Amino acid sequence: MTQATLVYDGKEFPLEVIEGTEGERAIDVQKLRAQTGLVTFDPAYGNTGSCKSAITFIDGEKGILRYRGYPIDEVATRARFTEVCWMLIYGRRPELQELKDFREKLTRHTLIHEDMKKFYEGYPAGAHPMAIMAAMFSALQTFYPDDGDVDQNIVRVLAKSKTLAAFAYKKSIGQPFIYPKNDLSWPANFLRMMFAVPAEEYEVPREVEDALNLLLILHADHEQNCSTSTMRMVGSSEANLFASISAAICALWGPRHGGANEQVINMLEQIQASGSNCQKFIDEVKDGKSGIKLMGFGHRVYKNFDPRSRVLKDAADRILGKLGINDPMLELAKKIEETALSDEYFVKRKLYPNVDFYSGIIYRAMGIPSSMFTVMFVLGRLPGWIAQWKEQRDEEGGYRIHRPRQIYVGETLRPFEDLNTKNL
Ligand code: ACO
Repeated sequence: MTQATLVYDGKEFPLEVIEGTEGERAIDVQKLRAQTGLVTFDPAYGNTGSCKSAITFIDGEKGILRYRGYPIDEVATRARFTEVCWMLIYGRRPELQELKDFREKLTRHTLIHEDMKKFYEGYPAGAHPMAIMAAMFSALQTFYPDDGDVDQNIVRVLAKSKTLAAFAYKKSIGQPFIYPKNDLSWPANFLRMMFAVPAEEYEVPREVEDALNLLLILHADHEQNCSTSTMRMVGSSEANLFASISAAICALWGPRHGGANEQVINMLEQIQASGSNCQKFIDEVKDGKSGIKLMGFGHRVYKNFDPRSRVLKDAADRILGKLGINDPMLELAKKIEETALSDEYFVKRKLYPNVDFYSGIIYRAMGIPSSMFTVMFVLGRLPGWIAQWKEQRDEEGGYRIHRPRQIYVGETLRPFEDLNTKNL
């Protein structure tokens, strides 16, 4: 067993070094406080391994991302989303029959309880669909209060999520809800619920279905990011699956995380409206005074490139080409990427396009409005959240509630004087 030694206050304390299957090493500090009275200090957990996990491997320096050992570009181009869901959640590739049964269940459980539709009536027309999603996931628990059958609830989540999302969109544009259709694939069923109207036949274009399949897979898991850590954090209190997902949705919503995809399009629109001057915009980002960030750029872990953004950049060209769409936004995005990547500011800080930089352009081409972009991220990320939540639940020897420490920097002890309240 490898050990590290901490020398503190003239004494030596051995600390175990644990090693992952890809050679990642970590100092195990679990006993540190008992041994030394010290805690570790790592704001925003930038260098803290919060769990052992066998789901997703990332090497941020080399730009590697693998699901269950399989390279992301191979999974994204060869698998269907439902297979990836099963693989992430259950740890191996499904047998054909297992996959068939799983798909069948995902189809059968797509409807939401009719009473849930009444919630949609109460939301104001301009309600952000992410707020609706968080609320509706929380509400699911009221319809399925039995927490015992985890697999059944997993199916419910994956099956109903697309219905909840499409209904949120229909509500925002004032159109009637379209019910799921059982002979369609997961992505096609969702797209039909988004874009069909009762008065007309609607066939989901194959290119759009395939594009969505790719996007969902690329978003399916990303180890201990902000929303996934939230999922584990909330789950660690033994909160149920629906409540944990609702919390993870809220975490994903922020513009530093999944909300960035919506912000990228807003940013590109603003640059376009002010004359498409990329250098001027990059200069504004760099001077720091405006507080403007280049949205869709930078990542806590990737310091070379984000492999998902490479797949998406190629896919954007291909998908827009297939759909016969010539979106000047794509050229603008490429120009901004080029300008940023040849600029010392971005090179020095190792800032590269992340998954959100090109995804919005593809969603736009598919007809999905920017207010739904982060909801699309939710749909893709659900299997990852579920897999991580389940992995934690199934941990050998049980799991502990998440409870970080702090370094208190407030007032020291002082007396609490009575306020003179007599004259009030
Ligand atoms: N534009 C301009 N400067 C940036 C950007 C950016 N997008 N991202 C980081 N920087 C700068 C920071 O200002 C900082 O500069 P400094 O050293 O001069 O102070 C330096 O690069 C390091 O950045 P941090 O904020 O310390 O990096 P951190 O790991 O904490 O944050 C994050 C990562 C939140 C993703 C950040 O890069 C960011 O805000 N990016 C834009 C939002 C975005 O695209 N988010 C999506 C991330 S991917 C996902 O969650 C799906």
